[in-house]
Amino acid sequence: MEPGEYRPPGKKRRRRCLIISVVAAVVVIIILGVVLGVSLRPNTDELKQTFTDRCKAFKEYDCEKIWDVFVQAFVGKDPCNVPMEAYNPLIDAAPFKPACNRMMFWSKTKNVVHDFTDKRDCYVTLEDTLLGSVMDGLNWCGKEGSQEIFTTGCPGWTDCEKNPVRSFWNRASAAFADVACGDVSAMLNGSIATPFSPSSIFATIELVRFNSTRVKSLNVVLVTQKTEVTDCTNPSLKDLQKELDQGIKYKCTEVSESRIEACGADPQIPCGGCW
Ligand code: APR
Repeated sequence: MEPGEYRPPGKKRRRRCLIISVVAAVVVIIILGVVLGVSLRPNTDELKQTFTDRCKAFKEYDCEKIWDVFVQAFVGKDPCNVPMEAYNPLIDAAPFKPACNRMMFWSKTKNVVHDFTDKRDCYVTLEDTLLGSVMDGLNWCGKEGSQEIFTTGCPGWTDCEKNPVRSFWNRASAAFADVACGDVSAMLNGSIATPFSPSSIFATIELVRFNSTRVKSLNVVLVTQKTEVTDCTNPSLKDLQKELDQGIKYKCTEVSESRIEACGADPQIPCGGCW
């Protein structure tokens, strides 16, 4: 067509439509690329840095060696097929030490229990130990046929049973419960209908490992708020007692959240006097 030649309006519109479609497709491809790039970006350095920084607080351990053992559990594997046993070498490399009479388990009380144990040395939770504190709040997975580590785009807690994060917490919780001894405590949530949830890690992994040859008693601290939902007569706590190894004494105490906070803030209150 010569310059200035008449172009029928239909043709012009078609060409404009074509240009708009091409631009839209390019924009969609760029957005998809960015989203996929973010969700599947390998993050080995970032995870290793956090791991090492947190690990160094525990001076007696070889953090480099523990990192190497940790990555062996999940790197190069399908992120939905990492069983808890994959972390056995990690537990062997950094075994849990028994802290008789001071071990604190919990369920649905993560914030209140850690606010307390962060301030007072009376009790030790899994997240106060080397492995628990290093991995707390982190996310990680590998990919089949790859040596990369990902921290985003990994399967979520409930997406598949054998994901690397869930299997780690199951394995670590089992090992922590295996060394429980003396008078053991468990902080449960008195603001929910079922403080002892049968599907929780505490019920399925930890309580069932308490052995009467090592554990003398289980003291449930039921954390209550002003609007009380439940108390120590809750039916789920009856189920807990049924699950408990015979020979382990059971006690339940209702303690308000404000009392636990006050006790955490006041080092003058002796540990045994908090509840
Ligand atoms: N996504 C990610 N993590 C989750 C999810 C989820 N949807 N659900 C649970 N978790 C992990 C988190 O780390 C959470 O803090 O499990 C932890 C505990 O969940 P709860 O249901 O509150 O309690 P429970 O399952 O009983 O586990 C707590 O296990 O961690 C050990 O020794 C610890 O006694 C404690 C018990």
